[in-house]
Amino acid sequence: MSAPTQPADPAAAMLRVRQLTARFTTRSETVEAVRAISFDIASGEAVGFVGESGCGKSVTARALMRLAPEGSSVQWGGSVQFQGRDLLRLPEAAMQDLRGRRIAMVFQDPMTSLNPVLSVGRQIDDMIRRHAGVSAREARRRTVDLLGLVGIRDPQRRADDHPHQFSGGMRQRVLIAMAVSCEPDLLIADEPTTALDVTVQAQILRLLKRLRAELGMALMLITHDFGVIAGMVDRVHVMYGGEIVEHGAVDDLFAAPAHPYTRALLDAVPRLTQRGGAA
Ligand SMILES: Nc1ncnc2c1ncn2[C@@H]1O[C@H](COP(=O)(O)OP(=O)(O)OP(=O)(O)O)[C@@H](O)[C@H]1O
Ligand SMILES: [Mg+2]
Repeated sequence: MSAPTQPADPAAAMLRVRQLTARFTTRSETVEAVRAISFDIASGEAVGFVGESGCGKSVTARALMRLAPEGSSVQWGGSVQFQGRDLLRLPEAAMQDLRGRRIAMVFQDPMTSLNPVLSVGRQIDDMIRRHAGVSAREARRRTVDLLGLVGIRDPQRRADDHPHQFSGGMRQRVLIAMAVSCEPDLLIADEPTTALDVTVQAQILRLLKRLRAELGMALMLITHDFGVIAGMVDRVHVMYGGEIVEHGAVDDLFAAPAHPYTRALLDAVPRLTQRGGAA
């Protein structure tokens, strides 16, 4: 248990997570995947969560959407205050209204987050119509605009294509378009570039940065790779074994990591130790 991590102006916090726990119960055991973590995110702020596989990054992100991983049951504890309401205690109908509209997430596995049998345009149309209550024609107009905004060429025509007709990087752009379609206040991007090659990775990160500036969203960027964090976020949280073991401004952390585990993570990023900056 430790003090919450806070933005420069704690009063500006839009999200206040306190003593968050996530407990999975399987047939054989109970696992505490997230152990009483506390952090704040201010409006428009970009924060990073870094840590090795299994340390609890995705489960933490999912807590903000109150979504258990597929096929599991999870017991949440603590509180997730977002714009003055505790999301862990909100009725499900209110939570459904909030998901996608106020808090949106680009999930870790792009293929399973898109429906393979529907065109990508249709999937974005549906998202817009669910939350904005506009006509089919207006939804499609916005969808085409969004696909253009995320850098899909010939968006009018591409809207009718299915997910398998897009490359990995283009699919990730589609997911980002869908996530920002309702102009959320907080965008969670869970390993948005892990499956992509370095050039495409850099393009997707630039896109996220530009969208955040244009739409004024807060960004929670999750990765196991410190190289992705540099230049993207103001503050970073290092997670280990379900806890936040270190937190600070990115530059401070890079210059003088306090926790041995943070040092080990930084050592795993050769291009950073060469002081060339992130690719
Ligand atoms: N569906 C599940 N059923 C049971 N336990 C789970 C489930 N999903 C996650 N966990 C537990 O929660 C822990 C944290 O998982 P999480 O997915 O948050 O890790 P992560 O940091 O996102 O890792 P990765 O970098 O591999 O995505 C896991 O180590 C596991 O113990
Ligand atoms: Mg994960």
